[in-house]
Amino acid sequence: MIQVSDVSHRFGEREVLKDINLSVRERRVGVIGANGSGKSTFARLLNGLLIPDSGAVTVDGLDTREDAKAVRRRVGFVFQNPDNQIVFPVVEEDIAFGLKNLKLPKREIARKVDTVLAEYGLTHLRDRAAHLLSGGEKQLLAISAVLVMEPRYVVLDEPMTLLDLRNKKLILDTIRTIGQPVVLVTHDLDHLRDFERVIVFDGGRVVADGPPRDAIRHYTRAMA
Ligand SMILES: Nc1ncnc2c1ncn2[C@@H]1O[C@H](COP(=O)(O)OP(=O)(O)O)[C@@H](O)[C@H]1O
Ligand SMILES: [Mg+2]
Repeated sequence: MIQVSDVSHRFGEREVLKDINLSVRERRVGVIGANGSGKSTFARLLNGLLIPDSGAVTVDGLDTREDAKAVRRRVGFVFQNPDNQIVFPVVEEDIAFGLKNLKLPKREIARKVDTVLAEYGLTHLRDRAAHLLSGGEKQLLAISAVLVMEPRYVVLDEPMTLLDLRNKKLILDTIRTIGQPVVLVTHDLDHLRDFERVIVFDGGRVVADGPPRDAIRHYTRAMA
């Protein structure tokens, strides 16, 4: 479980998150809200990329302030722009990178890389230059590089925003197959209809939180 307790966060003078209290126990949680409402700040708090100014975030009891490294391993994070996440020139190297850091045996790394390539339909791209992939393929690669680490939770911050319709669908279908609990920040409200829960941010506060129908209705009314 991810627990967010009395969290507020500022950037300079700006209070970007205010008094956030919630826990995530569901398998599929959506996060929506206007630009600048605090969604990315919230997402980054969940895996210790950002430590809250006040309050605490814990993941299975591990406090991000004290155990940021352990939390980051436990909570995989997928960014909006895969170019920021792809570090190695060749697809399979990029996927193997995190595993090499863990100093796993070569054979185990190879096995895990093969499995994730096959699972996400990237096997035919394994020797390709990562920067030459299509937008959708790059995002698939970024997601695969996160999932190969076998995190307990996966947080994705607008992973489909830069993609055309076909690639959006590809990534969405991929997200549906993720076995771990998922927190998905998105503007694509239609994609959240089968989620268990949707959290709506406005001005750094949670203004709605519940079943998708109700939360989405609240959001679309507030935006009208
Ligand atoms: N590193 C930062 N430094 C200063 N201000 C920031 C930083 N990151 C985000 N902000 C500001 O915090 C507010 C919330 O940003 P963000 O969480 O990215 O919102 P969202 O993802 O909902 O668009 C915005 O006003 C943004 O400009
Ligand atoms: Mg954002």
